[in-house]
Amino acid sequence: MAPHTEQLTRPAAVRLRGLTRSFDGRSVLDGVDLDIPAGQFVALLGHSGSGKSTLLRAVAGLDHEVTGGGELTAPERVSVVFQDSRLLPWRRVLDNVLLGLDGRDADRKGREALAEVGLKGRERAWPNELSGGEAQRAALARSLVREPELLLADEPFGALDALTRIKMHALLRVLWEAHRPSVLLVTHDVDEAIVLADRVLVLDHGRIGLDLTVERPHPRSYRDPLLGEYRERLLAALGVTSDVA
Ligand SMILES: Nc1ncnc2c1ncn2[C@@H]1O[C@H](COP(=O)(O)OP(=O)(O)OP(=O)(O)O)[C@@H](O)[C@H]1O
Ligand SMILES: [Mg+2]
Repeated sequence: MAPHTEQLTRPAAVRLRGLTRSFDGRSVLDGVDLDIPAGQFVALLGHSGSGKSTLLRAVAGLDHEVTGGGELTAPERVSVVFQDSRLLPWRRVLDNVLLGLDGRDADRKGREALAEVGLKGRERAWPNELSGGEAQRAALARSLVREPELLLADEPFGALDALTRIKMHALLRVLWEAHRPSVLLVTHDVDEAIVLADRVLVLDHGRIGLDLTVERPHPRSYRDPLLGEYRERLLAALGVTSDVA
């Protein structure tokens, strides 16, 4: 097979066709079609209650009632990060990272992952000794140590202060560069989406309402005026203007 043909026929990491989900007769996802190529960094925006977490849970394989005759394909190795770190309080940080992992190399990999997120030396700390940002970094280490083909993140920085959030953006991007999983990042934060992702989606009325490719090199600056144009388009798709009052 010629190389270009191979590339064209390479399956997407995530493929959704006609994905539907209702709760008590109320439609939340109404025929979502989406392809995420392997290694792409995608952000998903949408109003509260628009179905972002529902979509993410479906892709994660956590929702067995989804589809309604639709199609859902996702990679085998998927890691999920949530708004709270979900570390087990009775296990030390390294043991949390290693949870469910076996093999001779597990310990070394866990320590390496903690070093990658800047937590070298905190392996034996208890989760309640970590700050919110540190706990989220431990959660990222726990997901990365599994070498996921797809990283799903549901507002992973939503509970952090603004400064910590900016540091976490840089860290997530560095980790992505090093490991290149496909990423689906759910966020409320338009700036987070355009600074981090190469493609930003807006979920609206149960479907992908806007699918925007962000063509700016990395690392991106929050002050890049060209990012402002993307911001305006996304805010318009979300039905808000950036003017106050
Ligand atoms: N298990 C459930 N049972 C009943 N309704 C549900 C359930 N899960 C989600 N819903 C409903 O589906 C809709 C979408 O919820 P979802 O959590 O996906 O929204 P979201 O876009 O993630 O919102 P937010 O930005 O506030 O996190 C909401 O109206 C919610 O009440
Ligand atoms: Mg949600």
